[in-house]
Amino acid sequence: MIHEAIRFIEGHTALRPAVGVVLGSGLGAFGDVLAERVDIPYHEIPGWPPSTAVGHAGKLILGNLGDAGVAVMAGRAHLYEGYSPAQVTYGVRVLGLLGVKAMVFTNAAGGINLDLQRGGLVLISDHINLQGCSPLAGPNDDALGPRFPDMSEAYSHRFRGVAKQVAAELCVPVSEGVYAAMLGPNYETPAEIRFLRTIGADVVGMSTVPEVIVANHMGIQVLGISCVTNMAAGILQQKINHEEVLETGAMVRDTLVRFLKALVPRLVV
Ligand code: HPA
Repeated sequence: MIHEAIRFIEGHTALRPAVGVVLGSGLGAFGDVLAERVDIPYHEIPGWPPSTAVGHAGKLILGNLGDAGVAVMAGRAHLYEGYSPAQVTYGVRVLGLLGVKAMVFTNAAGGINLDLQRGGLVLISDHINLQGCSPLAGPNDDALGPRFPDMSEAYSHRFRGVAKQVAAELCVPVSEGVYAAMLGPNYETPAEIRFLRTIGADVVGMSTVPEVIVANHMGIQVLGISCVTNMAAGILQQKINHEEVLETGAMVRDTLVRFLKALVPRLVV
């Protein structure tokens, strides 16, 4: 199936992407900046799981940004939608087989670290997988990657350095932190957030980690960017709702687009 997807995409465009970008909830606007772009709705690509989450566009966009061929996934599949770990990471496998060597994963996240603020951008330095599964469980395809991949630098140190440099040039404030991945779709309880803070998490979300594991498996270098769409449960005297998450995504969208536009061409490896 995956090779049909590759053939299908290669039949739609001569562009061979070097960098992949995944856009999270409410963050789908970066695809518009690509030149000579080709949009392919997910439902047309063999084997690609359709995105059901509100705020996700559901298409693959291929185009150029400066000298870089870029593939943008506007919308992703989540475990909480009922998709299997293999389905959630299908897009990363496809982009890896298309030749992508670097990937940027963006997501909406709750801020656990009290120094964070709603609307802030966090460069992910590491993650804690609390989703109860790995996309690598089951037989290993040695052609894709090793049985026991190393995860000691799951998020490229060099890419974080480049991202900090670009952020400084553009006067975009960024911080750095550890991302904890929960299954969702419910938000956390205040007790869970206190637990996550104790074990060293700075932000919490419901995506990204399976994709980052698969990217590492394939030797793809990773940059992760969380947008703090809300403070996590129990920090403020208010409830968390998906509308707030989307609203904050819309607030930071332009900044994130500006940031990615300058950053992505510098991640060609
Ligand atoms: N928790 C989990 N995932 C999220 C949150 C949150 O508070 N905000 C956005 N995605």
